Amino acid sequence: MVTGGAGFIGSHLIEKLLNVGNEVTCLDNFNDYYDPQIKRKNIEPFLENENFQLIEGDIRDKALLKDIFRSTDYVFHEAAQAGIRISVKDPMKPHEINTTGTLNLLEAAVNSGVKKIINASSSSVYGKVEYLPFDENHPNSPVSPYGVSKLMAEHYCRVFEDLYGLKSVSLRYFTVYGPRMRPDLAISIFTKAALKNETILIFGDGEKTRDFTCIDDIVQANLICMKKGSGVYNIGSGHSITINELASKVIEINESESEIVHTNSVKGDAEHTLSSSKKALKEIGWKPKVTIEDGLERYARWISNFQL
Ligand SMILES: NC(=O)c1ccc[n+]([C@@H]2O[C@H](COP(=O)([O-])OP(=O)(O)OC[C@H]3O[C@@H](n4cnc5c(N)ncnc54)[C@H](O)[C@@H]3O)[C@@H](O)[C@H]2O)c1
Repeated sequence: MVTGGAGFIGSHLIEKLLNVGNEVTCLDNFNDYYDPQIKRKNIEPFLENENFQLIEGDIRDKALLKDIFRSTDYVFHEAAQAGIRISVKDPMKPHEINTTGTLNLLEAAVNSGVKKIINASSSSVYGKVEYLPFDENHPNSPVSPYGVSKLMAEHYCRVFEDLYGLKSVSLRYFTVYGPRMRPDLAISIFTKAALKNETILIFGDGEKTRDFTCIDDIVQANLICMKKGSGVYNIGSGHSITINELASKVIEINESESEIVHTNSVKGDAEHTLSSSKKALKEIGWKPKVTIEDGLERYARWISNFQL
């Protein structure tokens, strides 16, 4: 079962899980955080596959969740209200979907035969930087309601394992990019602007740094966690660049004439993110493989050919 399976990361997971011979159910409510047609297109190639099933529904719908895990071994839990900025505007939304929604899912999965939940968490659970790179022992001081909601979901996973024996692992993804990525994320906005030689707008002075992680590495970590790992793991590239450097790389890779313009900074954005994935290497044998340059080129090729 992949919750949020029609989204960016979920649809990549489904593709890989089907390719290696699994039966996969996608649970998604096709919300309108971004154009639901993009999500329909993400899962279109799977609809003819006899090992694929689509359930259009909401993780907040307890009655729906009650029965759907009966023949499920593994749950990849990607459904969420993603996005920092929307969480600053409307904090109740990530709380209801990410925290209460995850709790609903855990309650429904207990005693249903589910072997493990692989929960999508986020580097946003760290927030205020005390040292870099973040290791899993770094204090958690989220700076956005989104980060709080993902941290609470992690805690519920851990507590459900301790109290009720429902195995889980939470993967703290560091800003994920690649084909089919969400249209609200910097790499997709910058690349689309660059391809049209339009201005690239950066919030703030552009000196915040981010660890950008390619979708292939994220999918690989999820698959490994079917058989290995428990607790929390950072899943990040281990390299960070400033937003200014990112914009320059995007301009260079796309041979663009776009100009970079800075505007007011926005609330809720972490200052810096950088992952140490030593724990993931030691305990589950995962390490990132894709460099930002290769990943950006791959994304640029994909988006230039994308049509809804
Ligand atoms: N993309 C990133 O950079 C990133 C970084 C850290 C963590 N994450 C986490 O990874 C997961 C996937 O993110 P994504 O970038 O693919 O986002 P996405 O928005 O593309 O995918 C989320 C999917 O969940 C579905 N969904 C939302 N609310 C739902 C609900 N109540 N019931 C059922 N389905 C629902 C949406 O329709 C969407 O298809 C999320 O949990 C997100 O918090 C993403």
